[in-house]
Amino acid sequence: MKIGKLIELCKIVDPRGNLTVAEQNIDVPFDIKRVYWTYDVPGGESRGGHAHKHLYQCLVAVSGSFTVTLDDGHDRQTYLLNHPWQGLIIEPGTWRTLDDFSTGAVCLVLASDLYDEEDYIRDYDEFLKIYGQ
Ligand code: TYD
Repeated sequence: MKIGKLIELCKIVDPRGNLTVAEQNIDVPFDIKRVYWTYDVPGGESRGGHAHKHLYQCLVAVSGSFTVTLDDGHDRQTYLLNHPWQGLIIEPGTWRTLDDFSTGAVCLVLASDLYDEEDYIRDYDEFLKIYGQ
């Protein structure tokens, strides 16, 4: 089974500079209630290292590149995000790790809900107990 879904967003090509858009329930399959982004990630650092119980997310490398490894408790799949017109949809119950950030990489995250620490699973053994059955 495929873990995560790489989607192609529109790319409005323009000699003045290109434009990509993501609209809730049209381009991404959820309401967008929160947007955040990570940047200035030092070389060799990792982000993520957790799963969510209910949250849907779409990750976009709006600048630079990084890899995303997804784990559903049974299998793993690694994606290279390096195009600002691609999004990676991550469903609840997916452990994610982000690595190999290029210099200047920016990871934009569209999220289906507001921040709630209670929605996180930050312990991998606990994750496996719930989703690895
Ligand atoms: P976290 O989601 O663990 O970051 P990442 O998955 O990108 O490595 O969040 C890092 C910290 O930032 C954590 O202490 C919670 C805080 N945070 C917020 O306060 N609000 C938010 O919307 C997010 C995403 C994180």
